[in-house]
Amino acid sequence: MVDGSTRRRLLVQAAALAGAALSPAAWTPAVAQTRLADYPFRVGIASGEPEPDGVVLWTRLVVDPQAMDGGMGAAPVRVDWEIAEDEGLRKVVRRGRALAVAEAGHSVHVEVAGLRPDRRYFYRFTAGGHASPVGRTRTAPERDARVDRLRIAYGSCQKYESGFYAAHAHLADEDPDLVLFLGDYIYEKAAAKEAVRYHPPVEARDLASYRQRYAWYKADADLQAAHAAAPWVVMWDDHEVANDYGGDQDRTNPPAALFLQRRAAAYQAYYENMPLRRAVKPVGPDMRLYRAVDWGRLARLAILDDRQFRAPRSCDGQSNGKLIPAACPERSDPKRSLLGERQEAWLSGQLRDTPALWNLLGQQTLMNEVITPDGRVSNDGWDGYAQTRRRILEGWRDHKVSNPVVLGGDVHTFFAADLSLEPGGKPIASEFVGGSISSLGRSREIVQGMMTINPQIRFGDGDTRGYGLVDITARECAVTFRGVENALAPKSPVRDLAKFVVEDGRAGLNNA
Ligand SMILES: [Fe+2]
Repeated sequence: MVDGSTRRRLLVQAAALAGAALSPAAWTPAVAQTRLADYPFRVGIASGEPEPDGVVLWTRLVVDPQAMDGGMGAAPVRVDWEIAEDEGLRKVVRRGRALAVAEAGHSVHVEVAGLRPDRRYFYRFTAGGHASPVGRTRTAPERDARVDRLRIAYGSCQKYESGFYAAHAHLADEDPDLVLFLGDYIYEKAAAKEAVRYHPPVEARDLASYRQRYAWYKADADLQAAHAAAPWVVMWDDHEVANDYGGDQDRTNPPAALFLQRRAAAYQAYYENMPLRRAVKPVGPDMRLYRAVDWGRLARLAILDDRQFRAPRSCDGQSNGKLIPAACPERSDPKRSLLGERQEAWLSGQLRDTPALWNLLGQQTLMNEVITPDGRVSNDGWDGYAQTRRRILEGWRDHKVSNPVVLGGDVHTFFAADLSLEPGGKPIASEFVGGSISSLGRSREIVQGMMTINPQIRFGDGDTRGYGLVDITARECAVTFRGVENALAPKSPVRDLAKFVVEDGRAGLNNA
């Protein structure tokens, strides 16, 4: 499947270095002088993981997003970067170079340090005689700083063939401090029969095909605009690997060793394609992605990985699709964790020691219990591991955690809900699921039915694609659901679907 014509676009001079190791010896004059005949920034640029003194700058050299190897062949290519205080890049504060190698899918992760806290910066890459667009990013405030406001735009679930990314175009215009992406950045499946745009016909299963899938998605100009607008903080869900996977199993229950090989390939491709720090680089099938981002004393955002460490699905023998009887005893087994013991201990520490006024939990799905009319629950999320949810809610209550707010994705539906230990009980936290960027959702009838039986869910919309905006101040956390008119059109206006306010010191939703 390697596209020979695109390979040839690399000059022979660089190809002579094929297989060169990532060592000082690779910095030969030939690498420095590599010219690329074609534009190598076809999948854009990004930044992420803001800290008070720095941020990650990312790019991946791709000249042909549809080719299995991005059209880059095997040669290493030198990439220069610069970061400045102004959009015209006249006041450059740091610059450097990196080597994009085939072993890393020609990705580059630059960890810039020595920046000033709570500042906006602009950055650009150059490679092979070409310059990338200029991206906008920022650092986080200092840990003990008093901060007036934080704006987070968050989204999830961007199935390429189901719609266009008008939502990303609008998200890029919202001027967020942070973009939080909660998973299903790609979908691994083969192309569906009915699609609004063309997509590879085979399922991604190995490193080459996962890399190709990311490049295919990332060639989208609106997605690139959203990446170039602000630093991103990312977490995966299941489709970055395989549908409904958990631990070493997916829905088809393959041999664990075989599935872990696939997981290793998928995690490697994920790392290569995201603006992440080198510390999270996968080792085989293992990648520690759960982490926290602090925004002065205003907010702490803890981001959970509910896929990699979960126990096998509860009561799978009694499942009908994903639905199991609510009375399934495995759901209440305290030893069966959705997060794994180490991640739960880490989260508990984050809650206990938090200095933040607002404590956000970014996780992949709807955290609330949701029961169907015939008394069933899904075993693919929190409802299959009810004791993990209980422990987190009790942690918030017992440690008197200030203002817990949950942000989620996965279910392709906007939901706003109160979270309490028992249905109808006193709210301990509020939760907001931010719809989907393009993946298709639930019908109005189904969402209405869910809300009738589960009244803690106060708002639901599965018909509209879009994203959420979170505006945090010392007084309140306002969440606005933003919906595009028609995700089947490349350009589509956006509007407010609903707005909710959580007041400081008072868990639970208020309509704004
Ligand atoms: Fe999804």
